[in-house]
Amino acid sequence: MKLTMEKAQALLATTTDEEHLIVHAFNVRGSMEAFARHFDQPPEEVEHWGAVGYLHDYDYQRFPSEHLAHTEVELRAEGVEEADIRAILSHGWMLVNDVTPQTDLEKSLYCADELSGLVWATALMRPSGISDLEPRSVVKKFKDKKFAAKCSRDVIRRSVELLGLELAEAIAICIDGMRPYAGKTGLLPRPAADSEKHHLTQQERENMTIKYQGKETETSAANVAAFLEENGVAANEAVIELDGEIVAANAAAGTLLHNGAELNAFRIVSGG
Ligand SMILES: [Fe+2]
Repeated sequence: MKLTMEKAQALLATTTDEEHLIVHAFNVRGSMEAFARHFDQPPEEVEHWGAVGYLHDYDYQRFPSEHLAHTEVELRAEGVEEADIRAILSHGWMLVNDVTPQTDLEKSLYCADELSGLVWATALMRPSGISDLEPRSVVKKFKDKKFAAKCSRDVIRRSVELLGLELAEAIAICIDGMRPYAGKTGLLPRPAADSEKHHLTQQERENMTIKYQGKETETSAANVAAFLEENGVAANEAVIELDGEIVAANAAAGTLLHNGAELNAFRIVSGG
């Protein structure tokens, strides 16, 4: 039986609980649904492409260095059909295996896996999130090699070539597909009032206790970049979560810090 969204969600839940990987699953799901519509697929296939996208990193959290080596046997035992297993394996083409993407679904997955990460990181930097993001903003970030450096420009280039699309066209498809899931992926517009909420005096900014990964620590808002670096996170690569909400993809979150804030930071991971 073809993979359903219900089954994909149940299966991913057995292996994956890290928030950034769930966010990635939603990004790829949405992008795949839009690719299916681009290829004039009927509604049941739109769901099917989305389900394959949602499940594609099934083994990544448990086996990051053996990605896709713990997928084939496991998914077969769960009753996932061969075509869907092959599709999932093919997103590792030239990365961890030699399963060439052949069908439109497979080529789309190869593209969505990497490109949705770049779209997401671009949207994350904007107060308006993905709501009015234009393809050309993402094209610009594509050219900036330092931005979201883990999103492989080579893979993106290779994948849009496979699909016979222009880069901006593929980006437009991802944006369109990812928009409905903005609430799940931290890409909703942030109300202007939010940044006002934590308006601090100079002195308050310099003497704060915040919680970082569960531990209380002292820092200053101005020093957040240095602070992250001390904790082994490259600030320009970090996604920052403040009080349970993803607020920024760089150290600009320092301006939102307040006494007692709970800060969490993690690197942009484009997945496997
Ligand atoms: Fe992925």
